[in-house]
Amino acid sequence: MALDRQLLQSLIDEFTVNAEQLREVAANFRQDLKLGLNDPNDSSLRMLKSYVGLPTGKETGEFLALDFGGTNVRVQRIKLEGAGRFEVIKKVGKPLVVPGEYNYIAADSTAEQMFDFLAGLIDEAIDKDHETKFYLGHTFSFPSDQTNLYNAELIIWTKEFKTPGVEGKIVNDLLKEALERVGATNVEPIAVINDTVAVLLSAAYQQPDTYIGSIYATGQNNCYVEASINDPENAGVGGMILNLESGNFMKLTPNRLDLEFDEQSEKPGEQRLEKMVSGRYMGELFGMALSELFDEKGKDYGFTAIDLSSMLMDDTIDGNRIAAIVKDKTGKDIDSEECAKIKQLATAMVIRSARLVTAAYVGIIWHRTGTGKINRQHIAVDGSVYEKMPLVKENIAKALNELLGEEASKVDTILDNGGSGLGAAIAAAMAVNHHA
Ligand code: GLC
Repeated sequence: MALDRQLLQSLIDEFTVNAEQLREVAANFRQDLKLGLNDPNDSSLRMLKSYVGLPTGKETGEFLALDFGGTNVRVQRIKLEGAGRFEVIKKVGKPLVVPGEYNYIAADSTAEQMFDFLAGLIDEAIDKDHETKFYLGHTFSFPSDQTNLYNAELIIWTKEFKTPGVEGKIVNDLLKEALERVGATNVEPIAVINDTVAVLLSAAYQQPDTYIGSIYATGQNNCYVEASINDPENAGVGGMILNLESGNFMKLTPNRLDLEFDEQSEKPGEQRLEKMVSGRYMGELFGMALSELFDEKGKDYGFTAIDLSSMLMDDTIDGNRIAAIVKDKTGKDIDSEECAKIKQLATAMVIRSARLVTAAYVGIIWHRTGTGKINRQHIAVDGSVYEKMPLVKENIAKALNELLGEEASKVDTILDNGGSGLGAAIAAAMAVNHHA
């Protein structure tokens, strides 16, 4: 079939962020941070207090870590040995959705079912030992309002989670009740943190000069240490980590498809940046563009970020793998020239994602730096899009260069694989120390 070249080129153009637009997004992000620090109601960033600062690296002890926020739930027993060292003693994990069997994130599931599932997994991690005392750190990767390290109330589900009865609740209270139901009252949830915060704690535990934590996966979000906030409830050093919920950032210029996509999503108007950049949405957005090219607008082909990644990895001369994926999802046969074009569109979408994410990083760096010189620093990132999607890492580096010029040499992104679990254990240790 012959694709409309003009339409394709206009789609590629719509998904291209030029240097000027990139700088504008970074500047807007910085401004929203400033506004949000003054009053979160004036900003699209939620600026959520985490009640932890940075760890010292000397935290020790054995803790349970619950990592809940993506498609898989993991529970680990982690021994912190201090000096940035740790050992994972046990690890269990299960998906929240098994098609045809159960789905704990659907609108017809209940909070009780969801938390019973979590408690069951925790019980497995402790081998049903209901005697030994365990402190548990909980990485709960959704926007939550906190008044201390324990007390996190879910503001709103993101990432298309729909389970009723959790929004507006203190999540660790729900967890405690479920732990009681399985008889594991010896497990005491003591800290709740966002996954971005967990990644930052985990990276900072192991090496200095890390002040920004980021998740670039199903969802996309960043946190950073705000040196100016001191609070008696705050554990740790260096200030307080703020979870920006930057997936909700909206001082952007969405294109025609972004707007349509948002309208059709579970929560229109929310998580605007996330819908343009994260793994949960990129595949669908690509499918939406393709449906226009195939003159089947509105048809949902079910593309995922993994499909995008596979297409970008196709290095065959005639685009065999791209053709196979497109055939599988859309039923259409395309020739090698069309494969090359479709790859260009996928490339544009992924590069846009990396550039917008970097603009947020730079907005934070500018805010932290003020009028001084940028400090040597790492940005700790975890997540499948960062780790595995072709083109992402090099385009982050390129955008950092574009925005920071020579000073870009002082900033790099580092993969903090598994930080969500380790960070929860560190937060639990920090909570125990804070109360001691
Ligand atoms: C979504 C959540 C946020 C989380 C991110 C990455 O943006 O709202 O809390 O950090 O996904 O998992």
